Amino acid sequence: MATLNKNTFNNRDGKEKQKIRTLIAEAMINSIAPMTKPILTLPSDTLKFEKTLIKRGSSKFKFLACECDEKTYSLMMANIVKSKLATKFDTHFGKLSDMIYKAKENEFSHINADYCGQFNSYYREIEYAMRNNIVCVNGTISVTMNDRISKGCKGYDSENEGIIEMMEAVAPNPNPKANEKTLHVVTEFITRMAGYSYRLEKIKRYHDVDEKTGKTKGNMIMIIVRRIR
Ligand SMILES: C[S@@+](CC[C@H](N)C(=O)[O-])C[C@H]1O[C@@H](n2cnc3c(N)ncnc32)[C@H](O)[C@@H]1O
Repeated sequence: MATLNKNTFNNRDGKEKQKIRTLIAEAMINSIAPMTKPILTLPSDTLKFEKTLIKRGSSKFKFLACECDEKTYSLMMANIVKSKLATKFDTHFGKLSDMIYKAKENEFSHINADYCGQFNSYYREIEYAMRNNIVCVNGTISVTMNDRISKGCKGYDSENEGIIEMMEAVAPNPNPKANEKTLHVVTEFITRMAGYSYRLEKIKRYHDVDEKTGKTKGNMIMIIVRRIR
């Protein structure tokens, strides 16, 4: 039984979240990565990103959808059927990393790793995806994450070294304002992983605000990395 994160996704209807979905969708639409290969994705129950992509791009896109929360997985399956999208989706109840670690080279056209949590928990699987070229040339790996990395936090994979400690050793932050910490760590890490084969195409902070309370619903970062060779 997969037990990873509780589903803490609380900005599904946010305007800024929708703008981010559109940016990621456009990076995929503007790609010549073959549409015959699936997009590895975390749709949650509403399939908002995948519907945005089909609406703006093409009904030819197909998906391998992962979800680790049991209730959300059931709702997602019901929505796939209700939306008449069953022919476009394969699904996996479990972690996105289950699919990343067993993928072959060029297996996916794109990855939309729209995680809820801190990059600390996921950076090793993104590293694996890049090192092993599991997306095709021109394909994108998009990652959304919390704009916070707690020192010492190793995520659910306790073998991971904390990314802050690792990056402090190789790329100390010259301007260590607390609110720039995650941006610095993520940019340095991805740039190193990118080498000559990937380009960090976009990195963007965003947050939505609860219209009733005026409170921020969580500060987030989105990155789009493109495989160029
Ligand atoms: C931020 S939401 C996805 C939002 C969706 N892409 C959208 O645009 O509306 C993340 C979803 O993936 C699930 N999730 C988070 N991390 C996961 C992981 N590593 N493996 C599988 N599912 C995960 C969460 O339970 C949640 O339902």
